[in-house]
Amino acid sequence: MKRWEVLARQVRRTKDIEQLNAEAEAAPDQKLKRSLGVIDLISLGIGAIIGTGIFAVIGTAAAGSAHHLGAGPAVSLSFVITSVACGFCALSYAEFASLVPRAGSAYSYAYATLGELVAWIIGWDLIIEYAVGNVAVAIGWAAYFHQLCAGLGLSIPAWLSVDYRSAHEAGLAVAAAGGQVGPDQALYYAAWLHHPTILGVPLIFNLLAVLIVAAITWVLVIGIKESARTNNIMVAVKLVILLFFIAVGAQYVKPVNWSPFMPNGFAGVWTGASLIFFAFIGFDAISTVAEECRNPGRDLPIGIIGSLVVSTVVYVAIAAVLTGIEPWRHLGVADPLAAVLAHAGLNRAAGIVSLGAVISMTSVLLVFQLGQPRIFFAMSRDGLLPAYFAKVHPRYRTPHVTTIWTGVAVAAVAAVTNINEMVELTNIGTLFAFALVNAGVIILRFTAPNHPRVFKTPAVPLVPLCGIAMCAYLMAGLPWITWIRFGAWLVIGLVLYLSYGARHSLLKPRSA
Ligand code: ALA
Repeated sequence: MKRWEVLARQVRRTKDIEQLNAEAEAAPDQKLKRSLGVIDLISLGIGAIIGTGIFAVIGTAAAGSAHHLGAGPAVSLSFVITSVACGFCALSYAEFASLVPRAGSAYSYAYATLGELVAWIIGWDLIIEYAVGNVAVAIGWAAYFHQLCAGLGLSIPAWLSVDYRSAHEAGLAVAAAGGQVGPDQALYYAAWLHHPTILGVPLIFNLLAVLIVAAITWVLVIGIKESARTNNIMVAVKLVILLFFIAVGAQYVKPVNWSPFMPNGFAGVWTGASLIFFAFIGFDAISTVAEECRNPGRDLPIGIIGSLVVSTVVYVAIAAVLTGIEPWRHLGVADPLAAVLAHAGLNRAAGIVSLGAVISMTSVLLVFQLGQPRIFFAMSRDGLLPAYFAKVHPRYRTPHVTTIWTGVAVAAVAAVTNINEMVELTNIGTLFAFALVNAGVIILRFTAPNHPRVFKTPAVPLVPLCGIAMCAYLMAGLPWITWIRFGAWLVIGLVLYLSYGARHSLLKPRSA
């Protein structure tokens, strides 16, 4: 057989579901601790979902920016559109999670259905969702934390709270505007004005983002149960604070602000939906802890769908209240929820909301930082990454090697990048993975029709097809530069697969 024929066979080979599940049980030195129940899972889901999206990205989605049309008050409609897309995808994730309860999430599902190459591509793509997504959240965290400290009278230098490029661009923009500083430029411009230099090199980097990522990494190395407990507390606090915002803000709503409802027509609502997708990412993260659940077949679908429903209800209410308090054009700041309360003279309430934002983003960081190493772990166990990445800590039973490396990479990138670019890249990568998961559900109904499914996606293939169509629609709403970055990322992944994964894969061809 020619070499390319061998390769063509190899990239298409799939794993038996039984084999996948048996492997997870087989190797005692690579076994994770099963300690999570249904409440922990719903909580992990909400922990991953509610964060930077609702506290920061909602402002850009409503008001627009130099690169995007704003949705205006119709941003609540953007939330509804995106929640429908995510609803279709959640049903597919739930079926897969109950069928293949393995640590690798969509990566493992693809290995069972679409073949090794697609599995690798998804695994590679999920780095964008988890690690790049966390870069965006860490940057958002730093901005809110900086403001929270300022409110408490503690001044952290702006040049340790933002990246160099954003500060430089703000410096140029303010100079071009004759010294006028917009509210969304204040932090960056402060960094630009007051940064020190070492040997002529300007010193501006996001130390706050680095520190929070380091702290989260430490918690995760210590143990999953401890991490889940920390997460449950943060989730309770963030839900209470969001309900507090709705209750207080509702008293200051002026219905005149809701009109015109769609100032930029449906184009604005569409772009808004593509951006605000970031706020929904995370319901799928629960599936990465499948090997740490006590009863994954039953609890994973409940956790995935339950956390999505709770978050959607809260989001639509917040969007309606937020756009009712202030005219939509004023919402394009880094901390829109706190800013509208402060403008209404409610400084203490604004401080409480800022604290809620910091806590919420911390829990998002925790869940995503938990998910990424588990995907590396699964890929390494399959031989597509070096075995070094599948090491489990002898005492804590956590995948400490991948956890620490993920922390180092996320912290390094968060120190020097801009939040908007990271949000867009995360969205495109995640939407792509979601589309492939939907496709996998359809394929598996043909290739493994009789395999017992604790949860079945209704109306297959219609529901997964709607999921794929909605993902494509939201991807199309993202800027072309994001498409190019995403394409480049996939090409790098392909080269790595051909040069390492394809040679070291532990899956033997069926014919062998
Ligand atoms: N959904 C997560 C957030 O909004 C990523 O922070």
